Order: sequence, then C-alpha cells, then structure tokens
Amino acid sequence: MLRIEAVSKLFNPGTVDEKIALMNAKLHLKQGDFVTVIGSNGAGKSTLMNIISGVMAPDAGEVYIDNKDVSQISEYKRSQWIGRVFQDPMAGTAPRMTIEENLAIAYKRGKTRGFSLGVTSRTRKIFRDELSRLGIGLENRMGAKVGMLSGGERQALSLLMATFTRPQILLLDEHTAALDPARAELVTSLTDNIVKELKLTTLMVTHNMEQAIRLGNRLIMMDKGQIILQVNEDRKKYLTVERLLGEFEQISGKKMADDRVVLG
Ligand SMILES: Nc1ncnc2c1ncn2[C@@H]1O[C@H](COP(=O)(O)OP(=O)(O)OP(=O)(O)O)[C@@H](O)[C@H]1O
Ligand SMILES: [Mg+2]
Repeated sequence: MLRIEAVSKLFNPGTVDEKIALMNAKLHLKQGDFVTVIGSNGAGKSTLMNIISGVMAPDAGEVYIDNKDVSQISEYKRSQWIGRVFQDPMAGTAPRMTIEENLAIAYKRGKTRGFSLGVTSRTRKIFRDELSRLGIGLENRMGAKVGMLSGGERQALSLLMATFTRPQILLLDEHTAALDPARAELVTSLTDNIVKELKLTTLMVTHNMEQAIRLGNRLIMMDKGQIILQVNEDRKKYLTVERLLGEFEQISGKKMADDRVVLG
C-alpha cells in the first residue's frame, strides 16, 4: 500500500547547519497496517511524514502509494489519498468557520471540481451522522465556530476531517501531544476506533511509549534519519516500555533523548 524506498533528505547541505533528516529510509506498509513511530528529537519522524505527503521532495528515493510512484505528484493532489492530523489543534481546521463549514471543505477534498461548498440538507445529515460517531456531542453544535472549541474537540474534528474521504493513508504527527492527559486519551481512543473501523493504513508518531506499544500492529523506531528498529505484529504483543528503551540504547548506543517522552 505504502512503500518508501531509499529516501534521503539533507537540510542545508554543505553549510555548518547541514542536517541529515533522513538517510536511506525504507519502509513497506501493507493495507490496514497501523504503525506507531517513536524516536529521539530530530530523528526525522516529521520529515518522513512531510515526504510521504509531498510537503517536501526527498533528495533521493521514491514514495509509492498502491504501487504508483507519487514522488513527482504535488501535495495538493496527494491529499486525495492522504489524510493528516498535526500536533497543533489550530493547524487542521479553520477557526472562523463553523463546524459544518469545515466539514464541507473536508468533504469536497478529492471530489470533482465545482462541488458547491454550501451545506445542503443532504450533506448536513451526513455531517451530523459522522460527528455523532465521535460521541462528544459536536453534532449538536454544527453552527458553532471552530475557534470556540477546546483543543481536544478540535483534534477530534481534525481527525474526522482527515478521514472523511476514506483516505488510503492516514498520517498522525503527535496529534495528541498538545492536549491534557484526559483529552489526549479521548482523542487516542477515537483514533484507534476510526483506524480500526475504516481499516486505514496509518503512521502515528507519538512520544508516549505505552501508547506506541498498545496501539497498532507494528512499531518503528527512528534515530538520526534512520529506521533503526521495526517490530512486527508477532513481537509487538510482547513489548514493554523497558524492553523498548533497552532496545533503543543497545542499537543506538545512547539513551533516548526525547524531551517530551511519556513512559505511560
Ligand atoms: N525545514 C528544515 N530546515 C532545516 N532543518 C530541518 C528542517 N526540518 C527539519 N530539519 C532538521 O532535520 C532533522 C529531522 O527533523 P524532524 O523534524 O524530522 O525530526 P522529528 O523526529 O520530527 O523530531 P521531533 O521529535 O523533535 O519532532 C532535525 O535535525 C531538524 O533540525
Ligand atoms: Mg516531529
């Protein structure tokens, strides 16, 4: 479903600020794989997401979605196959627009040009049904401006918008990191439900080790632009936080330097 082949990315090449963000990264995801991604700060996790979604081009290597090389395809075009939720609750939604207007934008994504942005009674019913799946009462506040919602509500809405058009791939980059623990847990369980229900092929970056172990069927660990460990379904069941951190130390020769790490 998603193949990343020998992707490398260097920032500021040839200067004192040269940074290796990705070095020959290779990753294959099958349809329905839910992969959690952990790693130290600056390991290249967000860069990997940016290259998959087309925000930036790699210096070398290719990205394939469904066996199609999408490396030359724009971020805008890829957005019909890729849903994304960011860390910042402000990033995924338009604050001055209402909940239903935001959903109308998400609904339009990937659809034929000329689809009206107006909310009709038919689309309103679809939106209400989708919102009620979240189970947090947003279906009763469809006319409310999104700027008035809490961070957790906005992330839940962002998640719904990112998955509205049933993308082939869902990318989550620390999407619960800015939330307090209770809201983070709510958005995490919504994520788990949506991913399972829609069988979405998903990459989720998290600093929460317990979450990285509990969610998904696979786990990858990154350091210095490389995927240094892949844990597959059969082994993931037996992982513990201690084992995971131990593996990191053993492979990289250092302790995991992550200023936001949550052990669970
Ligand atoms: N636009 C950029 N310009 C220059 N350097 C960058 C840019 N984006 C990322 N980098 C550098 O590339 C490396 C990888 O960064 P990246 O953001 O992918 O790491 P990360 O694993 O997401 O880290 P974090 O856990 O802190 O979010 C880092 O050294 C970073 O400083
Ligand atoms: Mg990052």
